Amino acid sequence: MQVDVVRRYRGSIEPGDHPYLQGPWTPLHEEVNATELPVIEGRVPEDIEGVYLRNTQNPLHQSFQRYHPFDGDGMVHMAAFRNGKVHYRNRFVRTKGLLAEIAHGGRLWAGLMEDPALSRRPGWGAHGALKDASSTDVVVHAGAALTTYYQCGEGYRMDPLTLEDLGIPDWSPEDGISAHCKVDLETGELMFFNYSKKPPYMHYGVVDRHDRLVHYVPIPLPGPRLPHDMAFTRNFAILNDFPLFWDPDLLARGKHVVRFHPEMPSRFAVIPRRGTPDQIRWFEAAPTFVLHWLNAYEEGDEIILDGYFQENPMPTDYEGARPGYERMMSYLDQYKMGTKLHRWRFNLRTGRTSEQRLDDRILEFGMINQRHAGKPYRYGYSAVQVPGWFIFNGYVKHDLQTGESWEIRLPEGQFASEAPFAPRIGAREEDDGYLVTFIINQTTGRSEVALIDCKRFEDGPVCRVQLPHQMASGTHACWADGADIRAGGVLAGARAEG
Ligand SMILES: [Fe+2]
Repeated sequence: MQVDVVRRYRGSIEPGDHPYLQGPWTPLHEEVNATELPVIEGRVPEDIEGVYLRNTQNPLHQSFQRYHPFDGDGMVHMAAFRNGKVHYRNRFVRTKGLLAEIAHGGRLWAGLMEDPALSRRPGWGAHGALKDASSTDVVVHAGAALTTYYQCGEGYRMDPLTLEDLGIPDWSPEDGISAHCKVDLETGELMFFNYSKKPPYMHYGVVDRHDRLVHYVPIPLPGPRLPHDMAFTRNFAILNDFPLFWDPDLLARGKHVVRFHPEMPSRFAVIPRRGTPDQIRWFEAAPTFVLHWLNAYEEGDEIILDGYFQENPMPTDYEGARPGYERMMSYLDQYKMGTKLHRWRFNLRTGRTSEQRLDDRILEFGMINQRHAGKPYRYGYSAVQVPGWFIFNGYVKHDLQTGESWEIRLPEGQFASEAPFAPRIGAREEDDGYLVTFIINQTTGRSEVALIDCKRFEDGPVCRVQLPHQMASGTHACWADGADIRAGGVLAGARAEG
């Protein structure tokens, strides 16, 4: 293995007894470029070409009081596949907040579980006092990787192949952009939303394939809300207003306390992709909160939306958790929240909603073949969480046409990432390709990149490649085909092939 250490950072993390600062969450403070990676199992397929990018909450400096795993600084890990070879890089997202904290030599912004008054500088996004860590999500649009933060931030760009910092998009709106921007590979458009504490509380926007902001409209809500994800179809964008939001009375006193209102419906805004606020159709559904959608598409008069319904969006404190971490542990446990694959149908003719549970297992963090995003699709891939912990150790593949499913689990001590689908070059069938994941292997103290052949799902990983260090467990990931990166418009330029 050829490993070039690009930079080592001087961090100040003191893990103590914090459950999310050790083991598979141990922050990594080095950036490397690695080639000639040893293949542990199988062989690197020659029939995929592109990059797997995963964002990670990877804190550099110690929190003031109590760290929440969503506070960590963004770090992108990249595995690039081409001609049966793979190489790896990782870089911190060079956010304004991180650069300021590096210069200062310590923390400047309070975290999610800390008193906002501790922040020494104004923060970003909906909350207002948090650091825009750009650590939640990553997509590739117009030939560049774009990292985003779930509480809304400016968005940061990187070259998807070299991870070179490309700065902030010049179209970044005042209220920022939330995590879970959506890319339509057919049109090259990026759809995004943001949310804030001031009316109209939400906006929706479209950036075209040439990286121009071509649409930006308010989605008026009854008050500050906490939407996390959006969906789209060929003709519509779907935004949401769930009855889980900051307590308005406490918010007026500067306290951010989330409450669930089971007496209120879930509401969905269906708007033409370039539509105006007067064209929004609102649909109501059973009260819940949804962190992530799987996909949406149009069928006759209906819009079909698949995602993970939470049976218990406001779980009780986690019994047996280390003191001070009971609530945090509970909100990170999908088994506590009861996240189940669910289908909503919005009838555009009657205005009615119908709902249906698709699976009773606890699943979340779904992925599809992105060529089917917003279009009819057959296969979904969900992640299986380790009970009690915000980490994955398996996947379920669903055939949504037949109702069949297949499940795999990793061996003890091995943890996976969100695993996007990488289509085989020349694939004709929707499931002809691989799920790509990083694996934290605690038995070896190293990480790996692994591929699961979706045509023989239950065989588990068919290729595992050793990486030079143990990364921290992260959140969202994406796959970008090399062809899509090269065709990515103004930002693609002439990029290194790696
Ligand atoms: Fe998310």
